[in-house]
Amino acid sequence: MLSARSLFQEILDNDEAFRLFCSIAAGGEAQGGWENGRIAALVPASERELAPKISRHGADEDKHGRIFNALLKKRGLEPVAVPPETDYTMLLERRGIGLAHEKLKADRPLTVRDVITYLAHSRVTEQRACEQMLMLRKYFADHPDVGRAVLVISRDEDNHLAYTHEELLRFAAAGQARFIHTTLRECALAEIRIHRDVSLAVMARMARILGWSAARSALLAAGIHAMYAYERLVGWRRMVTLEMPRRRNALGGPATPAPEVA
Ligand SMILES: [Fe+2]
Ligand SMILES: [Fe+2]
Repeated sequence: MLSARSLFQEILDNDEAFRLFCSIAAGGEAQGGWENGRIAALVPASERELAPKISRHGADEDKHGRIFNALLKKRGLEPVAVPPETDYTMLLERRGIGLAHEKLKADRPLTVRDVITYLAHSRVTEQRACEQMLMLRKYFADHPDVGRAVLVISRDEDNHLAYTHEELLRFAAAGQARFIHTTLRECALAEIRIHRDVSLAVMARMARILGWSAARSALLAAGIHAMYAYERLVGWRRMVTLEMPRRRNALGGPATPAPEVA
């Protein structure tokens, strides 16, 4: 059977596949954590109230990175180097989406537009993260090894997405609607391509590790291309809408610790 559930079950059941999966996930989370930490440090004076929320956002992503590493450790596995073609966060940055690392490494304060760019990038990528975690939560919330980690990360990603909606709406009301719209659109269209490319690259690696047949790999690749075609046609629009979230100020307050998660 070919379903998201059976695919992920196969990955969970194989040490090498699980190791690659967790290493890629941990790498992306840690990079997100670093980026947000730098953005929080460089927030312009006019947006100072946002800094603790950006720090919290970064602290959550760092925590997710630690959770994935802890899952590996629990199974007696060492992380592996993330293959560049599977490095979603790095590929987005290279494509000029979000804020350039060069800018984040410098010590000059960001502009308001930079902050909006960060929020728009997060609006799009957190949507992806939420959907992926929702899928994992649907099938693996009760899994003895990964269930708790999946629930904690999923709840955090929901908060991140809510926060980006709320803050972008605030900037839109302050006269930035046009810039927000353009940035979101550009970001979403780039993200869906990179998501497709990374999915194909991860799948090719998993196919090798798990010894999938050529027919199975071809079917999966076709599924990824079909998903991209759908997202390019209409699906991307779900990533650029803004709606006031039910949960306001989702990142107000300190990060929730996750001691017993993994
Ligand atoms: Fe995360
Ligand atoms: Fe997140």
